[in-house]
Amino acid sequence: MVVIGAGGREHALVRALQRSPQRPEVLAAPGNAGILAQAPAFAADPEELENFAQTAERERVDLVVVGPEAPLVSGLVDALKDRDIAVLGPSKAAAQLEASKIFAKEIMEAAGVPTAAYCTVSSVEAGLRAIESYPAVLKFDGLAGGKGVVIAADEPQARSALAEMLEQRRFGAGSVVVEDFLEGEELSLLALCDGVQAVPLAPARDFKRIGEGDTGPNTGGMGAFSPVPGVSAEMVKEIVAAVHQPVVDELRRRGMPFHGVLYAGLMLGSDGFKTLEFNVRFGDPETQAVLPRLRTDLVDLLLRASREDGLKEARIEWDRRSAVTVVLASRGYPASSSCGDVISGLDRVPDDVEVTHAGTSASAGDVVTAGGRVLNVTALGNSVEEARTAAYAAADLIEFDGRQMRRDIAAGQVERERNS
Ligand code: AMP
Ligand code: GLY
Repeated sequence: MVVIGAGGREHALVRALQRSPQRPEVLAAPGNAGILAQAPAFAADPEELENFAQTAERERVDLVVVGPEAPLVSGLVDALKDRDIAVLGPSKAAAQLEASKIFAKEIMEAAGVPTAAYCTVSSVEAGLRAIESYPAVLKFDGLAGGKGVVIAADEPQARSALAEMLEQRRFGAGSVVVEDFLEGEELSLLALCDGVQAVPLAPARDFKRIGEGDTGPNTGGMGAFSPVPGVSAEMVKEIVAAVHQPVVDELRRRGMPFHGVLYAGLMLGSDGFKTLEFNVRFGDPETQAVLPRLRTDLVDLLLRASREDGLKEARIEWDRRSAVTVVLASRGYPASSSCGDVISGLDRVPDDVEVTHAGTSASAGDVVTAGGRVLNVTALGNSVEEARTAAYAAADLIEFDGRQMRRDIAAGQVERERNS
């Protein structure tokens, strides 16, 4: 089987697949220094859809697992399915759920999924008129690498964000969704879907801002933990019944059955939960905190999800322990990126801590940074506090020039755990 992608999420996927009793041969396309140390490279580029699909057919690949959104949105799944190759991920049509905020809103409306009130605008003035109060939420309609959402505190900020998106076209042509600001705590609830049903994975929370205390610009995610204390199995069921399942039903009705991971970003407020966004793939870094807790064979689950109704009666079991993931990022991230800094201390990390590589490469016998988020350090513990302490103890052993690390990942949860 082939795992597509080059981040921490994909390294966690490769590890979890290799833990399967089916002992699959896992290949990476393209991988990074950490992934390639344990899985050979697959000889085709997923950006070249037809060539990739042809190579996969020739090599008799039994499953392709797509990590990032780009190949999904460009139609890789469709190209593979045309050749009867099993693949985890939605079709190009269903991937619009992540690629277009407007499409996601329309599906939510049609399916009766709770979400913030919104309208769509295509000029700065219309955008400003549509804002009823501040803070206001502005979302570019297309893919923007996690940078397309701006929470504007006042009119000048809203004006400059709207101008950047609609006039300077920072992310290309496209409209903007103006949405009500929601208060509460965020939750990432991912579900495996087989076109018919949605089966939840363990709940997680990620930390999107670069700075401690949730300050500074958004990043891909600076840490995560799972499970989320306070989010019961009952509540997970309720959310899946109100959010994931109606979306899966609606897409099926429209002739675009959803296979793969449906990731709902939710806001848990005082008056219930609302959906902020959908992604059509595993979350990064949520996956690094979720998969080490998985007790069910991932190969079996993903193959089932690739078949229509394959997850019927599937049960997913989880380690009861908590997992905390801390991200180490390179100097200047997220604004800029620094490469080539030598990473030391990886060999000192204890065996029971999982280090997954993101922006790393191999250079003259060293592992060096390759920009962006560099490494993820995940530890398990009998409490959030235990997991957190172990994750930071290991992360502190790893050094490179310009290393950035938030010190407050899951800190609030430890407080709550102590007080409960
Ligand atoms: P999205 O890409 O839509 O998940 O947005 C990125 C981040 O912006 C989310 O994880 C939230 O932190 C924040 N966000 C998005 N929509 C809203 C909203 N309606 N109210 C408050 N915060 C939001
Ligand atoms: N952790 C956020 C994402 O994967 O998009």
